[in-house]
Amino acid sequence: MLCHLADLDDGEARGFEVPGLKAKVIVVRREGRVHGWRDLCPHYAGGTPMAWKRDAYLNGARTHLACHAHGAWFDIETGACVQGPCLGKRLTRVPLRLDKDGGIHLDR
Ligand code: FES
Repeated sequence: MLCHLADLDDGEARGFEVPGLKAKVIVVRREGRVHGWRDLCPHYAGGTPMAWKRDAYLNGARTHLACHAHGAWFDIETGACVQGPCLGKRLTRVPLRLDKDGGIHLDR
């Protein structure tokens, strides 16, 4: 389990280390839905961690995921870059599963 739904306020994002994965998994809760993304900005091949400090994955208004290296913004629901140097690219989705008790898991 990555975390519990109760650990994540609506409009909040957190990053989690997962054994076997090189990059963290970002979990974002927004308007009652939970989205998972690899913490790899697609600006450069291979990807770059996006937060400048722990769990700093959102822009100031909390409307988009943001890469703090060069300012790219990504749609929280689709992962598409909507502003910045990687327009036309997108984040890699991580499928998540919510159990009946509100636990958030990788769906693999
Ligand atoms: S590495 Fe993310 S915008 Fe450049």
